[in-house]
Amino acid sequence: KYGSTMNPSKRDGFTSKFGVLVATLGSAVGLGNIWKFPSLTGVNGGAGFLLVYLLATLMVGLPLMMAETTLGRAARANAITTFDRLAPRQHGWKLIGWMGFLSALLIMAFYSEVAGWVYAYIFKAMSGEVLTSDPKIAGEIFGALVSNPTSSLIWQWVVLGITGSIIMLGVSKGIEAVTRKLMPVLYILLLVLCARSLTLEGAARGLTFLFSPDFSKITPAVVLTAFGLAFFKLSLGMGTMLTYGSYFREDQNIPATTTRVMLADLSVSLLAGIAIFPAVFAFGFEPAAGPSLVFMTIPAVFTAMPGGIVFMTIFFILTAIASVGAILSLLEVPVAILSERFGMGRKKASTCTILVIALIGAPAALSQGVLAETKLFGMNPFDLFDFLSSNVLLPLGGILICLFVGWVYGLPELEKRLSNEGTLDNRGLIRAVFFLVRYVAPLSIAIVLLHGLKVF
Ligand code: PFF
Repeated sequence: KYGSTMNPSKRDGFTSKFGVLVATLGSAVGLGNIWKFPSLTGVNGGAGFLLVYLLATLMVGLPLMMAETTLGRAARANAITTFDRLAPRQHGWKLIGWMGFLSALLIMAFYSEVAGWVYAYIFKAMSGEVLTSDPKIAGEIFGALVSNPTSSLIWQWVVLGITGSIIMLGVSKGIEAVTRKLMPVLYILLLVLCARSLTLEGAARGLTFLFSPDFSKITPAVVLTAFGLAFFKLSLGMGTMLTYGSYFREDQNIPATTTRVMLADLSVSLLAGIAIFPAVFAFGFEPAAGPSLVFMTIPAVFTAMPGGIVFMTIFFILTAIASVGAILSLLEVPVAILSERFGMGRKKASTCTILVIALIGAPAALSQGVLAETKLFGMNPFDLFDFLSSNVLLPLGGILICLFVGWVYGLPELEKRLSNEGTLDNRGLIRAVFFLVRYVAPLSIAIVLLHGLKVF
């Protein structure tokens, strides 16, 4: 009924334990690490925020990541078929998979555009076009890029073309092979930037900004921000980790692997903060949040430092690399669904996915230019897609997955799967994970969701 991949032995998958680790890490590491994490941490009280973020990651993020990958590996299927197989008599749970399908397309619509700007900036950095120590002029250069419909669309298509041709190659020959090469490069480039930033005079103020705790800034809203970030960072709530879990090896130690991914992702975020803020402060710039940090402040900061062109180019290359792994995981959700449920070949499923994203991505790409005033609920298409996915669909999907595991799938089954049929000695841990997934996670995500919808 669901195509030739009904036979699990024929199904593509990750070939080695290291492959599983880098591919999953590749999904977690993305644009979220480079500006979202450092700027949110700096603005929301440094080490205090970090502590709340860690708590959210440990109590909600990590257990949910274990739950998602477990479901995927148990069913060995895409995000929709997984629920058909695990709960054959309760058809409603499939909705989780359909929501994930939609979320992936919506996130890709704007994420691919931001990645497009990053690609464009690699060339702008290399050519020296963005060499200016005045953030205002840097802002004008950025504005000229994003408001130009042709360049916005073309850079988005470049991103879709490159990532689309990787995803076509499949799970082991595409995703695994590419992330295996890219992730080590990302780490090395990041360490180079950290070394540069930390050896600047006045670097210490940046570290103080990032790491000195200011607990007075920890308000309920900040706690909720930290929870939301934990969620987005680890690619949770939309079947991404579920789909990747379906490619995990049978002997993969899921609790150990997901914990490693969480720690490695955290280290990339921290290193990004260490690479960015000491430099920002050393040259007397204001720490800003969001795109303005990456596309306006960063070029000005690098221009002011010796060897700026080289380090600025490295910065944008590493950000582009980070976006690739995340995008591949976003694409894999619909590609797996189309190829397995609708019997499409991998090439056709990938092409369809890319074309649909190009179609709904166009309004997002034009949101900073010709469509800037085209608003629905007070948001342009770019912001609307971001809001709908991050603030509505992901938390909702997360709650539903927790409820499914906590109340339908149940402890005995979870115990069997997370202990690899009893070969791993981790019963205490599994019980703790189950408790978190059954009660703590759905309740706290519900609070995040209601806050995101401004219910309170
Ligand atoms: N984790 C990615 C980041 O931090 O940039 C974003 C992301 C990727 C979210 C994949 C959701 C997803 F399915």
